[in-house]
Amino acid sequence: MKIETVPIPAAPPLPVPRIPAPPNDQLSQILQSNSYVRERYLPEPSDGLYLHLSDLRLALEQFRTDEEIVVLDFGCGGSPYRDLFPNSTYLRADVAGEDLDYGIQDDGRSDAPSECCDLILSTQVLEHVSDVWGYLNECMRLLKPGGRMICSTHGTFDDHPCPDDWNRWTAAGFRRDLQRAGFVVNDVLKLTTGPRAILFLLDLHYPNFRGTTLNAFKVGAKIFRSCYGKWKTALHSIADRHLSQYRVVSEPDAKHAIYICVLAECRKPATNRFFAVRA
Ligand SMILES: C[S@@+](CC[C@H](N)C(=O)[O-])C[C@H]1O[C@@H](n2cnc3c(N)ncnc32)[C@H](O)[C@@H]1O
Repeated sequence: MKIETVPIPAAPPLPVPRIPAPPNDQLSQILQSNSYVRERYLPEPSDGLYLHLSDLRLALEQFRTDEEIVVLDFGCGGSPYRDLFPNSTYLRADVAGEDLDYGIQDDGRSDAPSECCDLILSTQVLEHVSDVWGYLNECMRLLKPGGRMICSTHGTFDDHPCPDDWNRWTAAGFRRDLQRAGFVVNDVLKLTTGPRAILFLLDLHYPNFRGTTLNAFKVGAKIFRSCYGKWKTALHSIADRHLSQYRVVSEPDAKHAIYICVLAECRKPATNRFFAVRA
C-alpha cells in the first residue's frame, strides 16, 4: 500500500508576549548611570540587590589580575568590573551605549576582529541574548587560542528585560551549554544559594505582600512590610556574617540547590581544530 505524505505548512511565528523595556538609548543611560555602576562596583548593605551583587563581586574578585592582557567586556553596560583589570587594554562592546569599541548585533555577532582578546568578561548578559549559540560562537571567535572567558548569568531571578529576557540556567545546564559551544570549563560556581537566596527573593518581593480580603491578614502583611523594610540593611549584614557559606559555592550539595546566579570560568582550546575563524 502506498502511503501519501502530506506536507504540513510551517506555522507562522507567533508574537511572544514580553514585559516592555525602555528604548535602547534610555536603557544604556540607566546601565551607565553612576548608581547602577556603583551598586555593582561597590555594593552596600542598604542596596536592594545587595545580597546578589555583593556575591557576584566577591566571585569576580578571584579573577582580578595586574597582567597586561586584552580584556573584552562583551555586553558591557557601564563596565562595573573594569577595575579588576587595572593594567589591561580594556575593550567594550554592546548592542547600544557610549564610548564603545565595538557594536554587537541582536544575534550576538560583533564587528570586533577574530582572536582580539585574552579574556572575555560577560556578566549578566547571556539571559538577554536571543541567540545563545550565536553569542557563544562569537566569544569563541574573538578569544585568542587558550584565552579565557568569565561568564555569569542568572539561575533564579525575576523577569528583567534588557531589552529582552529569554533564559535561566542550572549550574549543570550552564556547564553543558558552554561545553557544547566548544569551551573547556574549569569551574561553574553557584552564587547566593540556599537561605541567602531565599532572603534575596524576599528582598525583591516583600513589597508585594498584601492581603485582599481578610482584614487580619492585611494588617499582618502591612506590619511585615514595614518591619522588613526597616530591618533589611541589618539583615544583609547579619547574612554576610552568618550565611557566608552560601555566597560563592562550587559544591553540588542539595543545600545549594537554589541559587540566584551561576558563574563559569572556561577556556577556548589552545588549538583551533573545530572553529572556522571569520576574517
Ligand atoms: C543586565 S546588563 C549587564 C551589563 C554589564 N555586563 C553588567 O554586569 O552590569 C545586560 C547587558 O546585555 C546587553 N545585551 C542585550 N542583548 C544583547 C545581545 N543580544 N548581545 C550582547 N549583549 C546584549 C545589554 O545591552 C546590557 O548591556
